[in-house]
Amino acid sequence: MSLSNYRKEFPILSEKIHLGNCSQAPQSIPVLNAMDEYFQNWRKIGMDWDYWMTGVEQAKASFAKLIHAEVDEIAVVSCVSDAVTSIASTFPWQNRKKVITTEAEFPSVGHVWNSFAKKGLVDLAFISSDDGLYSPEQLDELLNEDTALVSLHHVGYYNGAKQDVKAFAKKAHEHGAKLFVDAYQSLGTCDINVKELDIDMLASGNLKYLLGIPGVAFLYVKRELAEQIEPAMTGWFGRVNPFYFDATHLDFAEGAKRFNTGTPPVIAAFAARGGMDFLLDVRMDRIEKRVLELSQFTLDGANKRGLEIASPLDTLKKGASTAIRVGDAHKVESYLAENQVIGSARADVIRLAPHFFTEEHEIDRALDLVVESLKQ
Ligand SMILES: Cc1ncc(COP(=O)(O)O)c(C=O)c1O
Repeated sequence: MSLSNYRKEFPILSEKIHLGNCSQAPQSIPVLNAMDEYFQNWRKIGMDWDYWMTGVEQAKASFAKLIHAEVDEIAVVSCVSDAVTSIASTFPWQNRKKVITTEAEFPSVGHVWNSFAKKGLVDLAFISSDDGLYSPEQLDELLNEDTALVSLHHVGYYNGAKQDVKAFAKKAHEHGAKLFVDAYQSLGTCDINVKELDIDMLASGNLKYLLGIPGVAFLYVKRELAEQIEPAMTGWFGRVNPFYFDATHLDFAEGAKRFNTGTPPVIAAFAARGGMDFLLDVRMDRIEKRVLELSQFTLDGANKRGLEIASPLDTLKKGASTAIRVGDAHKVESYLAENQVIGSARADVIRLAPHFFTEEHEIDRALDLVVESLKQ
């Protein structure tokens, strides 16, 4: 099926241009259907925990497939902040408690590290960059035998700069440190192979390019690493046998399962499975190719119109979103919305974030409206 044929799966596309995928993807029929499976079952059966937990397991399996991991390397959490808190709660790692991260992390990730640093559980160091692109060499002066972890986003939320995570993994590993990747702004637009990239831990929520809804996120922890660390942030689903029911006894399940906490977000997990299976069905190699084309088209269109591009100009160094510096970005976002176009403001930039179902004329229309808005 050609990519444009999938547009009918997103009802809103007949009324609006949706370029807000870096914030929330449009509602799709496969995701609605997946949620409806839960609602119908709840209405008819009343209580069916086995079925609901199977749905959550299937969502984990879909996430595992997307990142080329094993299902027992995936835990289910509620948001990326929870995933990072869970990791931070495993500290210190023997004599290592230093975390090196960037100033361009999504704030909630940075805030978690800051909060653990404030309690003395983590030693924190930041690296910075003017254009949002980071190089592993920036770690050289900071990496030492105290360093436990490098915490890095794959694609930046602000200007979409894409980091060379494989090079960061290599650098971290040379010093005995591990790499955690926040893949929220990239997963769903490109093929990520955690084994090839040698990533130790990775998290993403599902409401952006993975087409899901808020309330669920997944955490990958490489099997060998999971066995060595125990999270203080825990709950009965992190136990070897959650149904052992002895509040005085604490053990940790094998693999990433130990990072599960309490009752999982079932509806959101059903929606997440619907979105991820939809993408796997379309095929990530096709999606990646199309997103790259649209990324180049947006850069060229912005350039042609004399707009100031805040994103890297090389499509291989950026994610799907293109950030245009406009000053009052919320004014531009509102102007687009009045004209049935969804864009996403962050600080002084408006982000136009296509997905595989976007068409070129939609990007042209959005860029024309940005120009119009700036003239007002
Ligand atoms: C890169 C990135 N990480 C994390 C988040 C959000 O984290 P959380 O799931 O904790 O809300 C976002 C955006 O919402 C993001 O763009």
